[in-house]
Amino acid sequence: MAEKKPHMNIVFVGHIDHGKSTTVGRIFYDTGSVSQQELDKLKKEAEGFGKSTFEFAYVTDATKEERKRGITIDLTHMKFETGKYYFTIIDAPGHRDFVKNMITGASQADAAVLVIDVSSGVQPQTREHAYLCKVMGVSQIIVACNKMDVVNYDQAKYNTLVEDAKKLLSGIGYKVDKVKFIPISSLKDDNIIKPSPNTPWYKGETLVAAMDSFEIPPRPSDLPLRIPIQDVYSITGVGTVPVGRIVTGIMKLGDKVRFNPAGKDGEIKTIEMHHETIDKAEPGDNIGFNVRGIGKTDIKRGDVGGPVSNPPTVAKEFKAQIIVRQHPTVLTAGYSPVFHCHTAQTACRFKSLDKKIDPKTGAVVAENPDFLKNGDAAFVTIEPTKPLVIESKAVIPQMASFAIRDMGTTIAAGVCTEITVKG
Ligand code: GTP
Ligand code: MG
Repeated sequence: MAEKKPHMNIVFVGHIDHGKSTTVGRIFYDTGSVSQQELDKLKKEAEGFGKSTFEFAYVTDATKEERKRGITIDLTHMKFETGKYYFTIIDAPGHRDFVKNMITGASQADAAVLVIDVSSGVQPQTREHAYLCKVMGVSQIIVACNKMDVVNYDQAKYNTLVEDAKKLLSGIGYKVDKVKFIPISSLKDDNIIKPSPNTPWYKGETLVAAMDSFEIPPRPSDLPLRIPIQDVYSITGVGTVPVGRIVTGIMKLGDKVRFNPAGKDGEIKTIEMHHETIDKAEPGDNIGFNVRGIGKTDIKRGDVGGPVSNPPTVAKEFKAQIIVRQHPTVLTAGYSPVFHCHTAQTACRFKSLDKKIDPKTGAVVAENPDFLKNGDAAFVTIEPTKPLVIESKAVIPQMASFAIRDMGTTIAAGVCTEITVKG
């Protein structure tokens, strides 16, 4: 078996058309994971669809619809290694209709690359994605200032973008003195793995070097197993193979696992990671595993696996602390937007608004407020309209955060503080 390098999942996020997929494709090409021959083939196909320059994006945008439209729709996970890490790159869609997929990607990531087109600057999904990364617990971020070729590698344009991006990130809660801002052109190959002669004024790292200097976040292996399901496959000769990333705990062969809210039990027969069979998987591992006793239609994206002896918590109702980001009017009891939590998306009802608090100090400023508006923080009681797995912050913090979306935007975010168990 190959020597075990640490894994790192990196999600590429940002506004539509800012060049996320092209950057990912360029990294795979420059690091030799995609051959010249494969790229030439993609180039031909792109030209056939009237989408010349999209060949790098086609490395991750593999479905016919994505290639024809020239946009990313669902997540693509692709692996490559450096001397230091085993990277899984998660290319997320920028289109506002597919933010739900981006959230799933962010929930699986250790770090993010926020791609911003320097010629158009910070845009709505630049803001929304950066915010969602923070909400979903991604604490490390790099900003790739892309399409530097379009602005003739103008340092002043780069500086302006860096200032805007710093304002955005610090407003969300990132420590900007740690963030790297890298001027790149993924189309023309500047500062991807080689320092570019076109940006002599830039003395920092290339994009891939900066990815290599991300740090491995804590891997909570002492907590109970929790693996949110991302997809479920049925593989001939193997059986049902759910895939996902372990958030907490350990999975071993022979373990009896329950999937909730589906309420299905099975036994772990095989575990596979990076096309190798393993007998034990840890937090951070992206795995596919075969479970005896589970059919393909028994479980789906949004279910969570955990030990039968300490199964994932299905909440009948839960208390949460939330902060309102952006709502066109006000938020009141009875409101039922969609909650995005790990890989699940479930409509939930605000049962009651319990206490309004000062977002800075946490001090209670009003009991049972009638409504909440932008910028308000509050303790609330939430009732999922369908069974939902969520854990309280005190027990499994990695499974407690959620984003709330409605009308095509992220209106609020929060963390579960207490659960009323289903049943
Ligand atoms: P979505 O996934 O749909 O959100 O878009 P994306 O961010 O993945 O953008 P994509 O990589 O598909 O690129 C969109 C367009 O920008 C394509 O035409 C690319 O060729 C072009 N593009 C990407 N990077 C660069 C660059 O560095 N310079 C120039 N000039 N064009 C670029
Ligand atoms: Mg894309």
